[in-house]
Amino acid sequence: MKILSIVGARPQFIKVKPIIDELKKKKIGHILTHTGQHYDYGMSKVFFKDLEIPEPDYNLGVGSGSHSYQIGNMLIRLEEVLLKERPDIVLVYGDTNSTLAGALGAVKLHIPVGHIEAGMRSFNKKMPEEINRILTDHISDYLFCPTETAVKNLKNEGITKKTHLVGDVMYDTILDNVKIAEEKSNILQNLKLKSKEYHLTTVHRAENTDNKDNLRAIIESLQMLNLPVIFPMHPRTKEAISQYSNLTMEQFNNIVVIDPVSYLDMLVLEKNAKKILTDSGGIQKEAYWLEVPCITLREETEWGEIVQDGWNVLAGVDKKRIVELAENFTPDNKQRNIFGDGKSAEKIIEVVKINYNKPEPFIKNPVANS
Ligand code: UD1
Ligand code: UDP
Repeated sequence: MKILSIVGARPQFIKVKPIIDELKKKKIGHILTHTGQHYDYGMSKVFFKDLEIPEPDYNLGVGSGSHSYQIGNMLIRLEEVLLKERPDIVLVYGDTNSTLAGALGAVKLHIPVGHIEAGMRSFNKKMPEEINRILTDHISDYLFCPTETAVKNLKNEGITKKTHLVGDVMYDTILDNVKIAEEKSNILQNLKLKSKEYHLTTVHRAENTDNKDNLRAIIESLQMLNLPVIFPMHPRTKEAISQYSNLTMEQFNNIVVIDPVSYLDMLVLEKNAKKILTDSGGIQKEAYWLEVPCITLREETEWGEIVQDGWNVLAGVDKKRIVELAENFTPDNKQRNIFGDGKSAEKIIEVVKINYNKPEPFIKNPVANS
């Protein structure tokens, strides 16, 4: 059996890692294709190094551009790879443009697709990721859901047969790496930080970076906090700030802007933060797993269970609310087992193997060109 994974953006390198380990363990052939959506050392290569992920077999080198530019070029370049490799199944991860292009490129060649992190919804179609999720889920053959909510969301859209509740692959990765991170990372010493004496923030969602008022409100609220705020800044955010006049980094006072950090450094920064303020999807979950209160700089979240559990609060870009929460929000509930048992990759590959050995619906060595 030959499995081909398509990744391209930072969180996808973290999601593919346990799948790679599992396939290696089971001696199943795996081809790793990187679309090139993220390409800076700190947004791509560093994760391969940190997590000891082998070099991608293919890099499509698509880079940055509009959504149509990215998806269109990914589709064209991916087709060549798929025709050459003729994988038995393609796996796509999360909700980025690389996810949608990967799924669409494969189904057009009648190659079965498995979507890892299927069924997530924000119910906000202005969010580019929401379109990617809906389309990918509706064209994929195997929907690997991280939570029960994801299964329910798909059911509400009439999808019941293709869903598999497997837990969250990011939970697999964090469990495997948090100890390693604590042993290897020097980030606290390098930044002269003491545990629980700083906040951590990340911002990269289009709704925040592409809207000057929102970005300004976030920065101004961070400035009002009474602790240093460590801000590993996504290149999109850096670019947005440099384009908005009278919003310069020198104004940031207690905000310590640093380049994006490696996964292991990030885990240590997260674990030792007093609060995490973020619009990231993955970081909301990591905050929960590491038992750090999270303030989400968005109006909605796909990970509602964490909010229900009292470990995450939606603050949008409301300055007063952000400051109040950063100072006073203290969850008292225990974490629940919402995201599986850290063996999601094993479950995913089991489903793939079982279906491969059935005469249907797996199309072995699909006729790629018609
Ligand atoms: C993408 C995903 C988003 C995910 C995020 C993870 C889509 C639509 N969005 O958003 O769901 O949460 O990745 O981080 O797929 N840039 C660089 N160097 C890089 C990568 C990007 O400078 O290595 C800059 C470029 O100016 C680029 C901008 O960041 O135009 C945005 O990059 P892009 O990949 O289009 O979207 P993200 O905001 O990273
Ligand atoms: N991350 C990292 N370094 C950083 C910022 C994030 O290693 O400087 C990791 C983070 O720990 C999580 C993932 O990247 O595992 C989340 O990616 P991101 O926030 O870019 O995307 P999202 O999850 O919102 O799609």
